[in-house]
Amino acid sequence: MIAGFYGKLTQFVSKPRNSIKLINNNNKAMKFINSNLEDKIINFCKSETKITFLTGAGISADSGIPTFRDVDGYWSVGSVNYTPQELGTYDMFIRKPLEVWKWFMYRKDICNKAKPNISHLIISDFEKLFKNRFSLISQNIDGLHKIAGNTEERYLFIHGDLEYSRCGFNCSNELYPFPNFKFDRNYEFTEQQISKLKCKKCNLFLRPHVLWFDEFYEERLFKSDSAIKTSKETEILFIIGTSGSTTLPVMIFENVIKNQGIIVDINTKENYFSKRLKNYNNGYSVIGKSSKILPEFFDIFKKHYKQ
Ligand code: APR
Repeated sequence: MIAGFYGKLTQFVSKPRNSIKLINNNNKAMKFINSNLEDKIINFCKSETKITFLTGAGISADSGIPTFRDVDGYWSVGSVNYTPQELGTYDMFIRKPLEVWKWFMYRKDICNKAKPNISHLIISDFEKLFKNRFSLISQNIDGLHKIAGNTEERYLFIHGDLEYSRCGFNCSNELYPFPNFKFDRNYEFTEQQISKLKCKKCNLFLRPHVLWFDEFYEERLFKSDSAIKTSKETEILFIIGTSGSTTLPVMIFENVIKNQGIIVDINTKENYFSKRLKNYNNGYSVIGKSSKILPEFFDIFKKHYKQ
């Protein structure tokens, strides 16, 4: 078990970062990849080492799913406004299970309506290209990587999956389908709806199969040991659309640095990882929407990879 979902992050010293310049290669303008990085990609393609994608809420932003820390994610209960950090806890589930369920049903409804965007599709193409050299570690519970075609054997859902629920009181290890039914957030659940939120085995409340803010990573539910193992085998790590506020992604990042792996951070803003990469030789930070940037990376890997 890894202690602490959210840890205090280390400070960094700011130095000029590896710049990704607009360059021209083989008459094809590349906006995001410089020749130094392209050489490293060529070497990677000739080797048998591994590539890992670590994704966060930002990758699904272009699918219309709000991120956690960029927008106003408050949820009102009566006259009180709760942040996701207050509502997404086991403690709140014990105190107000129906409010927690309402919030998750609302979020599930947004996910049900969303479609994978170009970034999800490109990551699925990376898996098809590199097969067993590929891994995906995602903090997202929205299911869009699966819909885009990533396979579960190469995909670690380290914060859970909204496709499932489980007993909120651990009467068994079984996963059940997420109870999907229409409801209006301004009305209370009916008795019939509440019965669908109960565990069939013990009749206590089910809970969404996600990692809450006051819970810990573990292998059985969240594949945290597998994610650490994957990070130790990773030669190239892409970090896409995550702020770096959770402990396991930071450990994954540190393990790749320890092995002098190549790290590419893609994010619309400076973030924990991009700042840390400023003084790391094998680190690259690209600021912008992942759906604009990833296709160029895929083209370069595809061009140099001979299967
Ligand atoms: N392309 C790339 N990055 C983007 C885009 C985009 N189109 N849109 C937003 N971003 C970036 C933001 O700049 C931000 O750094 O995505 C990041 C989203 O950060 P968070 O909202 O903190 O989400 P995430 O890092 O996934 O949160 C981690 O915390 O709340 C918990 O369990 C929850 O899985 C979540 C975890």
